[in-house]
Amino acid sequence: MARERLRVTLSGATGETGAEIANAILDLSDTFHLTALARPASANKPEYENFKKRGASIIVADLGTVNDHLVSILKGCDIVVCAITLEGLDPRPMNNLATAAQHAGVKRFIPSLFGPVCPPRGVALIRDLKEDMIDHIKNLNLPYTLVDVGWWYQMSLPAVPSGRLDHLLVFPITTITGSGNVECAMTDKRDIGRYVARIIADPQTLNRSVFLYNEIWTQNKLFDLVERLSGETIPRQHETQEDLKLKIDSAKKRWNDGDETALAPFVMMAYYYTLWIRGDNTPAKARGLGYLIANDMYPDIKSTSLEDYVNGLLDGDIGRIYVGRR
Ligand SMILES: NC(=O)c1ccc[n+]([C@@H]2O[C@H](COP(=O)([O-])OP(=O)(O)OC[C@H]3O[C@@H](n4cnc5c(N)ncnc54)[C@H](OP(=O)(O)O)[C@@H]3O)[C@@H](O)[C@H]2O)c1
Repeated sequence: MARERLRVTLSGATGETGAEIANAILDLSDTFHLTALARPASANKPEYENFKKRGASIIVADLGTVNDHLVSILKGCDIVVCAITLEGLDPRPMNNLATAAQHAGVKRFIPSLFGPVCPPRGVALIRDLKEDMIDHIKNLNLPYTLVDVGWWYQMSLPAVPSGRLDHLLVFPITTITGSGNVECAMTDKRDIGRYVARIIADPQTLNRSVFLYNEIWTQNKLFDLVERLSGETIPRQHETQEDLKLKIDSAKKRWNDGDETALAPFVMMAYYYTLWIRGDNTPAKARGLGYLIANDMYPDIKSTSLEDYVNGLLDGDIGRIYVGRR
């Protein structure tokens, strides 16, 4: 007798992370059926038409409240994956989706973490907000899996002096943080979906945290790599821990005083502090925080090396992220 497919509902399918998850799930059509939730203002995006052609169901849903329509959509669904961003730092859409999933009896909820390893609270603002959302899920007694993915290659590269990578780098790195010798687990965003598809179907990961990554790099080694592959010498400026801390405190103060433009630098510099000064984002630290390591569990998944990724950019085979948005 044919095995029943797992019914997965995904919110945020048009995003960078969500699209990778949608594609991986649609590639495994014997295992999964995908329903993508589109928010009303985005229902006409062409991405949804493409997913539909590949077998997904598309349903328009508003996450602004916990409403009967949302609960009815989620009834009978096995797994809900949330890959939305914290727009305006507002946790309500994800919390509403979790509450509706609990009302509907969903068997597993995956909140939108998909970040680097970072201790809970007090280190990075976005992590703090995500920890609050994890608390909400646990308060609901909703079965969950927490997935973190390291730091994207796509956010980590320096520009090269000739300018030939400029149009491909959304967040070019201009300064090495601290010594540049701190290790960091890095991931090609394009590999996340295949890992997530395995993790969400695996009984071992229920009510657990799972960490996945591709490779470990330091910023100095990363700059060395880009220099070797591009043949260009990249100027190296280092920012000390003290300078970074002062900048974080100043951005935080400006933001607390009502300057919205200070939020993005505050968020990003706090990430640099946890990644490149504290060295939180490693598999060893993840193990210490109780994570399972996906690389150990699914060794057959082949992921992209940073070297191949950089070569792909230099050869023009790999494009930009957040096209038309940032
Ligand atoms: N590890 C890393 O290095 C790294 C890097 C970047 C992001 N992340 C994390 O990855 C996760 C996803 O971020 P991303 O950058 O991939 O996302 P993104 O590309 O910015 O896309 C955001 C998605 O969320 C949807 N969305 C936003 N607000 C919504 C709402 N109120 N209701 C319904 N849908 C909503 C958007 O839908 P529309 O089409 O309707 O706009 C879109 O599909 C986040 O948790 C983020 O922190 C991690």
